[in-house]
Amino acid sequence: MLGTSLKRYSWLIFLVGIAASVYTQADEALYQQRCAACHGASGEGNEAMKAPSIAAMSQAYLERQLRHFRDGQRGTHTEDTAGQTMRAIALPLTDKMIATVSAYLSGLPEPVVITEKEFAGFRGRGLYSGCASCHGAGGEGYPDLGAPKLTQQYGWYLRAQIENFRKGLRGTHKEDERGQQMRLMAEGIHSDADVDTLIKHITGLGVK
Ligand code: HEC
Ligand code: HEC
Repeated sequence: MLGTSLKRYSWLIFLVGIAASVYTQADEALYQQRCAACHGASGEGNEAMKAPSIAAMSQAYLERQLRHFRDGQRGTHTEDTAGQTMRAIALPLTDKMIATVSAYLSGLPEPVVITEKEFAGFRGRGLYSGCASCHGAGGEGYPDLGAPKLTQQYGWYLRAQIENFRKGLRGTHKEDERGQQMRLMAEGIHSDADVDTLIKHITGLGVK
């Protein structure tokens, strides 16, 4: 019985298999055509383009950022040149393309872009304890709170974003609730020296 029904449905299973692989290939093609030139073939980012590492981030975070760039909640400030670059890319994306490319990226392995820990000491740990409730003790992120992972992200990008939040280039739009939450946290960092220490601590979190 089981044998015959398996045989009967095997062609269907075969077709579903093909459809699934075509679908993934289409996701990959979308990424390679529109994103890889700046973010790298595996989503590892590229400092020369000011493009962060984006593979293995949560799908919901990626989708929100892409919608925000497209719809004008991020990347519109005149001083935010990197954000404006990304906004120009996001403008023609449909909701479906955003969902597809975000699913593809979130399923990729986390790229290894940081290989050495810098010593940030007790001060680093102390400062980061104010971030851990949302971003996780190991910087792994907390999807339910909308807080992205911070591991294996370049120090120059983390610094740029913390500065963007502190200067009001990100997280000021009234429909950007998550950004506003993070902006309050960034405003609570008291000095540039503390920003340096925090970045040292955070970049070390994802080093195995
Ligand atoms: C011309 C270069 C360029 C291309 C092409 C590009 N990006 Fe970007 N992307 C950037 C830059 C620069 C930033 C950093 C923006 C900032 O500093 O706020 C960025 C930021 C992002 C972010 C925010 C990451 C975070 O941690 O918040 C996401 C998500 C993203 N890009 C996804 C994509 C996707 C998906 C594509 C293809 C559809 C793409 N990008 C194509 C340059 C590019
Ligand atoms: C109340 C929760 C909360 C706390 C506490 C918090 N964050 Fe965030 N953080 C967020 C959320 C939510 C986002 C995503 C904002 C968005 O969607 O644009 C974020 C985004 C970020 C980003 C941008 C990441 C990217 O890929 O672009 C950085 C960097 C960051 N946080 C660093 C920190 C640091 C450093 C601290 C501690 C000083 C901290 N956060 C504390 C919630 C928090």
